[in-house]
Amino acid sequence: MTEAAKPIRVALLGCGTVGTQIVRLLTEQADDLAARVGAPVELAGIAVRRANKPRPGVPAELLTTDAAGLVTRDDVDVVVEVIGGIEPTRDWLLTALKAGKSVVTANKALLAEHAGDLFAAADATGADLYFEAAVAGAIPLLRPLRESMAGDRITRVMGIVNGTTNFILSAMDETGAGYAEALDEASRLGYAEADPTADVEGYDAASKAAILASIAFHTRVTAGQVHREGITGVTAADVAAARALGRTIKLLAICERVEAGGDRPGEAVAVRVHPAMIPRSHPLAGVNGAFNAVFVEADAAGQLMFYGQGAGGAPTASAVLGDLVAVARNRVVGGRGPRESAYADLPVRPIAQAATRYHISLDVADRAGVLAAVAAVFAQHEVSIAAVRQEGRSSDASLVIVTHSAPDAALRSTVDKIAGLPFVHDVVSVMRVEGEEL
Ligand code: NDP
Ligand code: HSE
Repeated sequence: MTEAAKPIRVALLGCGTVGTQIVRLLTEQADDLAARVGAPVELAGIAVRRANKPRPGVPAELLTTDAAGLVTRDDVDVVVEVIGGIEPTRDWLLTALKAGKSVVTANKALLAEHAGDLFAAADATGADLYFEAAVAGAIPLLRPLRESMAGDRITRVMGIVNGTTNFILSAMDETGAGYAEALDEASRLGYAEADPTADVEGYDAASKAAILASIAFHTRVTAGQVHREGITGVTAADVAAARALGRTIKLLAICERVEAGGDRPGEAVAVRVHPAMIPRSHPLAGVNGAFNAVFVEADAAGQLMFYGQGAGGAPTASAVLGDLVAVARNRVVGGRGPRESAYADLPVRPIAQAATRYHISLDVADRAGVLAAVAAVFAQHEVSIAAVRQEGRSSDASLVIVTHSAPDAALRSTVDKIAGLPFVHDVVSVMRVEGEEL
């Protein structure tokens, strides 16, 4: 670094869980960061909502409630956004990019809906847009997909990308607790937010899946195109049924390259978030608590697995700082990071056409002809049965059926029909199955 290296000036938007840790790391590691970047990295200002909130370790003179004013300041080179939400952050980041300032953000909700606008604004001025922290916290995942694997053909990305729901499902599996009890425990320990809707209903994971699919398949995918099922319907009975089969239940984000199907030739992209039973021998089954892990399959690389802390102030700040160093280096040398790659523009296939395997658990009357009648409904809907297990309990029986891959729509019709049969007392559990064939 030369003596005269011009500092890279950073506007930080947000100083909460993640922002506070960014300020700490920027302060504590100032010398190392300057050496790595080739210029000092300085905070120019920090935008917050509440000016008077005590913030130990945060320089009070840098605080402002005028985020819009901060992002347009002439002395700002890079805007780091850790506020969250769509508006007004979208507007502020577009303004910054249009003014030629590079942007680093951890905002998955924004990226999953508006990546196109943001990249277009970045392209217009040659600014950088980096967002490693938006998916899987500290885990380096987007940069490997975007850069290290740019020469390969990715076929599948599957993983656990939400720590809160993984904590809840792990607790249900370990203790036999019901969903509500496990959610209470997650809230008590500070994993679940006051309003856990985005996590437990799968919205957070759907945003992350959209971002992963967009990068992996060079196709713009938005959160609204992701089939989403949360974990609120997962019961202790589902978890027990999985355990009886040597399986466990995880909320999975699955992004796949598939055949377009119907009249359309060629490939498509299918992206879904839902709970699924996976074998206990699967590497994702051992990912417990609030950890995240993602499997990537590619033609030449084969299988890769990424694992680590998917949330938390310091782990997320680590990913943000990595991006900040990258964009600051680009500024120092006069270069630019990768632009959006959406050239493949593959169609996004709806879930109704996607085929997965299912586990169905029924309470039925234990008498002659019941199994045959249930099997006939599966046959009528062209859903092929892979395995059946029946356990008698006096006049009732528990019937467990595992299917071969079947389209979602066919399975739903099958279950609806079965639920209406007079000798079916209860549809106890319907759960997708991922992993090897049973
Ligand atoms: P917090 O709620 O802890 O912090 C949000 C910050 O934004 C606060 O400092 C708040 O100000 C500020 N803020 C809110 N509204 C405004 C506004 N209108 N103008 C100016 N400042 C505002 O959020 P997190 O730090 O947890 O998350 C930040 C981002 O990082 C989100 O996009 C989140 O999805 C993402 N992320 C978070 C992870 C985590 O583990 N927490 C993990 C990965 C990504 P004030 O302090 O005054 O309230
Ligand atoms: N709420 C998210 C989770 C934070 O539980 O994983 C990280 O994006």
